Amino acid sequence: MMPAWWRTDPCAPFRIGPREFPGRIWTASGCFAYGLTGHEMTAPGYASPYEGLGAVVTKTITPEPRAGNPMPRLVETPAGALNSIGLENVGLREFVRDVMPRLEAAAVPFVASIAATCPEQFSDLARAVQTAGAKMRHWHGLELNLSCPNVAEGGHDFGKDPDTVAACVSAAGGGAGDRALLVKLTPNVGDIAALARAAAAAGAHAVSAVNTFVGLDVDLATGRPCLPRRFGGYSGAAILPLALAKVDEIVRKAQVPVVGVGGIGSADDALKYFALGAVAVQVGTAQMRDPFCAARIARQLQTG
Ligand SMILES: Cc1cc2nc3c(=O)[nH]c(=O)nc-3n(C[C@H](O)[C@H](O)[C@H](O)COP(=O)(O)O)c2cc1C
Repeated sequence: MMPAWWRTDPCAPFRIGPREFPGRIWTASGCFAYGLTGHEMTAPGYASPYEGLGAVVTKTITPEPRAGNPMPRLVETPAGALNSIGLENVGLREFVRDVMPRLEAAAVPFVASIAATCPEQFSDLARAVQTAGAKMRHWHGLELNLSCPNVAEGGHDFGKDPDTVAACVSAAGGGAGDRALLVKLTPNVGDIAALARAAAAAGAHAVSAVNTFVGLDVDLATGRPCLPRRFGGYSGAAILPLALAKVDEIVRKAQVPVVGVGGIGSADDALKYFALGAVAVQVGTAQMRDPFCAARIARQLQTG
């Protein structure tokens, strides 16, 4: 039973900046790979896991392919998951030559997630994706993942400083062309609304909030952290109230559309983001457990 205030069709087109998206329920970067294998998956009553989806945000790509961090990279906790994947990805060349054309041919709506180590690299990546996607109907936008260390600034995360957020958005802006430019925000800061304001002032059409929270788990057998790099990114059901609080802060203190991400595993979870003012939502960890999770949410939230 839907609450009385919910009157939105999550599968109806809506705009972010210059671009019309086919729906408001998306999958989050890194949690549905490149979105290429869904047609091989089956679930009773569903044609595919793409049914009703507004976008697949593809795994973040970097200029060169990356092998990622040593194993183990993913640890399950009672109410979430801790990961330290290290941005394993196929790199820009394979992404534009192989992944993007296949997504287009399969009519999968997608947003390309990109990460770099300086604003100039963001500019190069954005332009390369734009060139490859200029004539594609199903490429809807860019999502800048600013969780990488900024090499030029001594290795601090780009995403934690409003000025560097603005520099990356400005650098990538031209490369989004007539598509939406989104910025994925880290929640590991005191004032997330300041980041959102900086992104919007520099030309971002929306922010995606949030990326993972810094976490650590300990293996009691060894007495050492479970992950080789000690810390990881915490996600899943446990972070829902934390992520909702960050989204609420942005909605109240920044004038920019918000795509809510964090802890969504059901239609009710998604509704909480919409109640706070999010324009769309992304399903992450829950999509790894059930590749039809986002499609189920899209169907359950339909009002008609
Ligand atoms: C295994 C894994 C890999 C991820 N990879 C990326 C990534 O490449 N780029 C990115 O922006 N976020 C990445 N994320 C973060 C998710 O997109 C999402 O922001 C976060 O997990 C919170 O949502 P959730 O609680 O629904 O998982 C990853 C998360 C997980 C669990």
